[in-house]
Amino acid sequence: MATKQGQWSSYWAFILATAGAAVGLGNIWKFPYIAGENGGGAFVLIYLVCIALIGIPLMMAEVMLGRAAGHDPYTAIRQLTKKYRAHGLWQVAGGSLVLAGFLILSYYSVIAGWATAYVLKAASGIFFEADASHINALFHQLVASPYELAFWHTLMMSMTIAIVSMGVEKGLERSVLYLFPSMLALLLVIVGYSMSTGYFAKGLSFLFYPDFNKLSSYGILSAVGHAFFTLSLATGSIMMYGAYLPARVSIPKTTVFIAIADTLIALLAGLAIFPIVFAYKLEPSAGPGLIFQTLPLAFGQMPYGSFFGMVFFMMLVFAAFTSAISLLEPSVAWCVNYFKLSRPKAAFMVGGAAWLLGFGTIFSFNWWQHLKILGFNFFDFLDNMTANYMLPLTGLIVALFAAWVATDSKKQLAITSPFLFKCWKYSLGILTPIAIILVFLNAVGILSFGSHS
Ligand code: PHE
Repeated sequence: MATKQGQWSSYWAFILATAGAAVGLGNIWKFPYIAGENGGGAFVLIYLVCIALIGIPLMMAEVMLGRAAGHDPYTAIRQLTKKYRAHGLWQVAGGSLVLAGFLILSYYSVIAGWATAYVLKAASGIFFEADASHINALFHQLVASPYELAFWHTLMMSMTIAIVSMGVEKGLERSVLYLFPSMLALLLVIVGYSMSTGYFAKGLSFLFYPDFNKLSSYGILSAVGHAFFTLSLATGSIMMYGAYLPARVSIPKTTVFIAIADTLIALLAGLAIFPIVFAYKLEPSAGPGLIFQTLPLAFGQMPYGSFFGMVFFMMLVFAAFTSAISLLEPSVAWCVNYFKLSRPKAAFMVGGAAWLLGFGTIFSFNWWQHLKILGFNFFDFLDNMTANYMLPLTGLIVALFAAWVATDSKKQLAITSPFLFKCWKYSLGILTPIAIILVFLNAVGILSFGSHS
């Protein structure tokens, strides 16, 4: 179905753009740092199970619903509710989808800004043979300066606004084509370095040996939340991109492919980073600075390290950029539809609001460091609220909607095997809601899997 706002020129363009939305800071920056904070193996196992049993079926559902409606997520859910003669309450999901992407964008752009700053640092040769304390100091210098963070955040957000103003066809497609192969290749170079540190086995066992004693109830919640975040689910992004997908393309094949690629990149990032953490006696639980405190050490030691470092951070910026675009697109498309604004105007207004909100994140690393909301600083609060609560909750509603309300899903998805279709339907209609509710009850202390601290 064609939409007013454009359509992907080809099947590959959809795959690339959707993979570009999925692969980003979540894989390379967030996954290693939250895996490190939550004790490694057991966290990773839960994350992988969630990707397979919840993430992939939900991704199919979102692409399907987006394509069926051919509109921004809010309008899509509203129209589908009418089409299937369902209760108006389902529309809550539409609003939440659009809002979550907007909130995430506000801090996403700040962290993408860190990566931008590191392109220059790497190119300057400053990492060359630097020791861990020097690398550590460089990171802290950066986040201590609100002005520097504001500069990079503004740059990132302006570029995102510019691309979204131009519209999907012109802005997005080609940019992702070269990213994945080069990203994989560079990650493999770093994994190669990590193998030479003598701590590769330790890194492997940290990531893949599940020790459930190390996993807290909050760790379980974060693993579930991250499965949504990393696949860009429940934020409107995937649904929005689905709206631009031509009707003849097979949804199941494409989504499985994207989810696997996304997961592989995250695991490779983990394999690149943890051996370095152990080799240099750093803390796996160092927090959001983890990749900025470890990878430069590797670049400082390897031949042509300044060059590899620069290219690596450039790719990270690029990966973040394609995700940032997908975060802004749904709320912009919604404004265009709802307020009848022009695309550039909507992009400027929504992006501008997210830009302003981003200052909360910037200050949480310096001026507002000690300001706590429910025990979290502003950035952690926003990240936790969106990724760990809003996304699973919205995802739950979308899952129920796709499984029980969308009566023509079998035809839409074109799954020929009745068995596979049932797997899809029951994993969304039964397993996902039960799992998410149990994890929530556990996080607030009503159940007790994992340690509660
Ligand atoms: N999935 C992206 C990442 O892993 C982040 C993202 C979340 C993008 C939600 C769009 C929507 O970096």
